[in-house]
Amino acid sequence: MSFLRDLRDRDFEQLVVCRDPATGLESVIAIHDTTLGPALGGVRMRSYADPEDAVRDAMNLAQAMTYKSAVAGLELGGGKSVINAPADSPRRDDLLAAHARFIASLGGRYIPGADMGTGAADMDLIARYVPRVSSRRDPSRFTARGVLRALDAAASWAGVPVRRVAVQGLGKVGSHLVELLRARGVDVVVADVDASRVRGLDAVGVDEILAADVDVVCPCAAGGVLTEAVIDRLKARVVVPGANNALAADADAAMLAARGIVFVPDFVANAGGVIACEAEVKGTDDAIEAKIDAIGATTESILERASRHGTDPLTEARSLAARRLSTHRPYFPAGDATR
Ligand code: NAI
Repeated sequence: MSFLRDLRDRDFEQLVVCRDPATGLESVIAIHDTTLGPALGGVRMRSYADPEDAVRDAMNLAQAMTYKSAVAGLELGGGKSVINAPADSPRRDDLLAAHARFIASLGGRYIPGADMGTGAADMDLIARYVPRVSSRRDPSRFTARGVLRALDAAASWAGVPVRRVAVQGLGKVGSHLVELLRARGVDVVVADVDASRVRGLDAVGVDEILAADVDVVCPCAAGGVLTEAVIDRLKARVVVPGANNALAADADAAMLAARGIVFVPDFVANAGGVIACEAEVKGTDDAIEAKIDAIGATTESILERASRHGTDPLTEARSLAARRLSTHRPYFPAGDATR
């Protein structure tokens, strides 16, 4: 099976495929890397047409979590899990409980949090089975604060005044971001598939938002939205995603650079949430805001390196993560996978 080869090629530590016939649970827990600490990442709940898509989604998201925590300087590894079921399943609580028991069997190597389809109340349920759980408080406002810091740094790097910003998706992150931008007097244009969320705001159709005539675009809905066709139509000179894995393919980072568009990799821009989650599991809120505000300086340094090396920001952000991983002693000593 090709994803087994993927595990080796992409240096994955562990992939757990779970089934519980009693509840009908089918889920996946992907642990990409625990060099820096236990793998923290959300529990995504949605249905996938093909179960292998669930595996791939979990793997892609787990790998991005490794980069995200490494670049943000956290003591966390990268992981993610996916429950292949609709978020409004009538057996939702049973599925979450069964999934939680599988997480517990990993002895602390994976720390779950909220993601698409799950929220703080679900984390309370999971915490009945798993000792360390994050996102029992919603991290979205911290995520939005970090996206704003990345946006400021990227716009200033590009010499673009931030007068008008397009936000795709007015969920937890998008709505906080819109609030922060409007509080500064920035014009905001929005779109959401759920029309009730855009009421009272300057809204355009979901097919138009990414090509809007604005200074900055912030995709804050699903991943994979920055396709070649979309990049061709972009009018903004700066793109700062709140959404995970916003690029449809890695090569699209080079395409953005070739078009002179300044792009901040999502795992750099949206790290505010995981920064808040680290604080939550460590039980201290002391350094949260300073760490989130440092996303600005990290963004600037990544953009500066990409320009100096003639590469693109995705390449530079990944090599920053790789440098941190290569100089760190593994959190779980050899022979003791569950410290
Ligand atoms: P959410 O589920 O609260 O909001 C997503 C919003 O996007 C919803 O309002 C939905 O109706 C809308 N939407 C879906 N498809 C759309 C489309 N094609 N066009 C326009 N709108 C569309 O999710 P949340 O928590 O706000 O997360 C958004 C993104 O940010 C996700 O990719 C998530 O993985 C990522 N993220 C979220 C973090 C957080 O703290 N919540 C942390 C880091 C990343």
